[in-house]
Amino acid sequence: MPKKVILDVDPGIDDAMALCIALFDPDLEVVAVTAVGGNCPPDQATRNVQAVIEQLDPPRWPRVGAASPPDHDLPVDGRNLHGLDGLGGTNLEVAELRSRHPSEKVIADAVRAAPDAVTIVALGPLTNIARVFLRDPELASLVGEIVISGGTVSGPGNITPAAEFNIFCDPESAREVFLSPSTKTLVPLDVTNQIILSYDLFNRLPDESTKVGKLLREILPPAFRAYRQEFGLEGIHVHDSVALIAAVHPELFVTEEMAGDVETMGELTCGATVFDRRRVPAWRHNMEVAVGMDKEKVVQQIIRGLGGTPY
Ligand code: BDR
Ligand code: CA
Repeated sequence: MPKKVILDVDPGIDDAMALCIALFDPDLEVVAVTAVGGNCPPDQATRNVQAVIEQLDPPRWPRVGAASPPDHDLPVDGRNLHGLDGLGGTNLEVAELRSRHPSEKVIADAVRAAPDAVTIVALGPLTNIARVFLRDPELASLVGEIVISGGTVSGPGNITPAAEFNIFCDPESAREVFLSPSTKTLVPLDVTNQIILSYDLFNRLPDESTKVGKLLREILPPAFRAYRQEFGLEGIHVHDSVALIAAVHPELFVTEEMAGDVETMGELTCGATVFDRRRVPAWRHNMEVAVGMDKEKVVQQIIRGLGGTPY
């Protein structure tokens, strides 16, 4: 039986890449794709979700959730890496949204419809998921699992010296989700940073006559340019695709049980993820954290998932 997943995304080039993989994976039933503000503002995130699904036209269309405005303005956006529109400045065409159900409602309905059987793959700030749990606390224990792309354990952040982008965007929501009684796996930067895809990726992608090949050939070149300008790197990180693979192929990852929380106030450390790794910890374990992976196999799964030719 295919695994039921909700993809909660803030597209975002690596979010879009994760959608390319998930929407064609016969082992997954993508019951919903829900938008959240992060890399771009909420309305744009919703447009991007709709645009990517329309371009890909997958065999089964998921429900789409619209991102609501956050409680506080987003402190930052991802335009330096993802372009003004979140998808490399491609401004993909989009038809009008047919129904504009808020993401929180779409997530809550999907979890209620299949208790303990839905995995939420959270690839953006945790705003939607925190709202779902605040409105209906019972849902936290009805979610099968949440796999979160975000945070850092030992390494530096990527948006401040201490914080990773998704958590920094909405630390209060991240804290709410971390401390909720849900089953969680965090896939932090320490792991996702280990994969850099070089230009050779373009030789591996399916050709332009395919829907995935066409979309990725539009949105990836701006990402390669941005990574070169920002970091001097001749390659890109694909954090959200790595997190998706962790949800689908957990056997490729090494995880450790940890006790994690989020700093919500520090002047220099707001949005930092903090883990109690003292010899005698006082906090209770509340999540699995990915600490390693079989890098080659994860890359192969990404390329294969895109319908390309693995290395
Ligand atoms: C995360 O930040 C976003 O820019 C990416 O889409 C990813 O979800 C990595 O820190
Ligand atoms: Ca993202």
